Amino acid sequence: MSSKSSSAEHEPTKLLGSGQHNAEPDFGKIRPMIHPSIEPLAFLVGKWSGEGVGEYPTVRPFTYGEETVFTHTGKPYLIYSQRTWNLETGQAMHEESGYWRLCGPSPNHVEAMIVHAFGVAEVAEGMIEGTHVELVSTSVSMTSTAKSVSALGRSLAVDGDMLHYRLRMSAVGLPAHHHLCADLQRTTLGG
Ligand code: HEM
Repeated sequence: MSSKSSSAEHEPTKLLGSGQHNAEPDFGKIRPMIHPSIEPLAFLVGKWSGEGVGEYPTVRPFTYGEETVFTHTGKPYLIYSQRTWNLETGQAMHEESGYWRLCGPSPNHVEAMIVHAFGVAEVAEGMIEGTHVELVSTSVSMTSTAKSVSALGRSLAVDGDMLHYRLRMSAVGLPAHHHLCADLQRTTLGG
């Protein structure tokens, strides 16, 4: 690619309010505009926290605390990260992170690539309708030591400052069963 490219993608991002005495650029103050192609997903941007309940036919029901962040860099994808913990002990539980995109032939076509810390990589596609997203895995890969997961389905909806999601999975040789349900509250503004 030519170094003379004038595409906006290669222009330096404007730093807002970086102080004169600060030798290092303060990347925390970069405020790029959301890329137009993911504008319909802008309702997800922000930090969300709350609690969830989990179950599966092979495990005892459990509860968890969760913090989820959707952010962006001005590029045509959202950056997603989620961490959970045991509500009684504070000990870390499941973690996952990835990228969400909206770039299919239809403007409502969502794609997500999500990596789970316990050795699973999920590729999912689906539809967005208003502030409701439905995703179904198109492939799930595992490391050789991960528990076996063959399919995942996610339903996510934002209603005002609340984000609700449900996750179902086919795992450890069983057909699809409900695994998770959580209600998260927005704790920082999107943008
Ligand atoms: C909020 C996130 C999640 C939490 C808090 C959570 C928590 C748990 C807990 C406590 C168990 C039972 C104990 C254990 O086997 O470790 C479990 C089992 C399991 N979870 Fe999750 N989980 C989460 C998300 C997921 C996701 C996204 C997947 C799939 C990608 C997944 C796949 C599994 C599997 C395969 C099992 C084992 C079932 C068995 O061995 O019979 N979990 N989860």
